[in-house]
Amino acid sequence: MKKVLVIHYSQSGQLSNVVQNFTQPLVDSPDMSVTFENIIPGVDYPFPWPFFRFLDTFPEAVYLDSPPPLPLKVAEDEDFDLIILAYQVWFLSPSLPITGFLQSPAAAKLLKGKPVITLIACRDMWLMAQEEMKTMLHDLDATLVGNVALVDEAGSIGSFLATPAWVLSGKRGPHLGGLIPRAGVADADIVNCKRFGERLVERLTDNTPLEPDLLCHLNAVRVNETLIASEKTARRAFRLWGKLLRSLGPSGSIKRKPVLLIYVVFLTAMILTVVPLGILIKKIIAPLTRQRIAEQKAYFGKPSGS
Ligand SMILES: Cc1cc2nc3c(=O)[nH]c(=O)nc-3n(C[C@H](O)[C@H](O)[C@H](O)COP(=O)(O)O)c2cc1C
Repeated sequence: MKKVLVIHYSQSGQLSNVVQNFTQPLVDSPDMSVTFENIIPGVDYPFPWPFFRFLDTFPEAVYLDSPPPLPLKVAEDEDFDLIILAYQVWFLSPSLPITGFLQSPAAAKLLKGKPVITLIACRDMWLMAQEEMKTMLHDLDATLVGNVALVDEAGSIGSFLATPAWVLSGKRGPHLGGLIPRAGVADADIVNCKRFGERLVERLTDNTPLEPDLLCHLNAVRVNETLIASEKTARRAFRLWGKLLRSLGPSGSIKRKPVLLIYVVFLTAMILTVVPLGILIKKIIAPLTRQRIAEQKAYFGKPSGS
């Protein structure tokens, strides 16, 4: 009997749905014992989000500053053959409830020396979050053997409006008669996650060691090369503004509000001017940067990119 631990958290239920489809073949297998651990954060994150609360969360998300979750149901010293860590991205970082878990003493015990698969469902910007995740897993002495990233069906531009509309209203849409498309991952992509669970059942029953090729050739990730530079730039900006905001007071502090408003104006101006200009310049110089971009795509696609 192989033992699999599934760590998850979801606000709207989307990631829970992904987890359920992904793990169904494991649950159905008589050779697997699957334990689900739903992370309950140490502070309450509302859904839908009030506007200021949403914005005010980015400094702590970017600086991975999260209180530990409430105590887990699973015993900290239980030994698992595989850990599946499902997370969503908040401001280009792993969501705070999952960060809080990874920084807890329970995670240090459960993940130490274990193979881990990360399972992401987010808008479509997950590259920097996964870099943070890799560092946290490395620090916990865990081995990343697979990564699956599901992104919203509306695409980069559509989801840029659709995701905030969803998390601020609690309604997936479409909104404004279709002007803002439906938010979230396509239903078919969620259902098709079963293929990963089927591969896991194969490998775990085979007794072959879980190597980083575990989920290769299953279309587990698609790295959108046009977002690599944007994510890096946005992350730098988040860190600068985040530092300033954190120097003004803790999350919820009234002193942060005016700076948050200035930041929103700055961000909107950047998105409407600098981002399109950057994309245009990148298109013009594409023949010169093709090799470097291919290398970056291969790097961010690891370990499961085919
Ligand atoms: C505070 C917050 C920040 C978010 N930031 C990002 C982001 O930087 N990149 C991204 O792709 N999605 C981002 N999202 C979307 C989430 O990753 C996710 O798709 C959505 O919140 C649904 O997750 P759920 O299963 O918890 O409901 C953000 C969502 C929230 C609530």
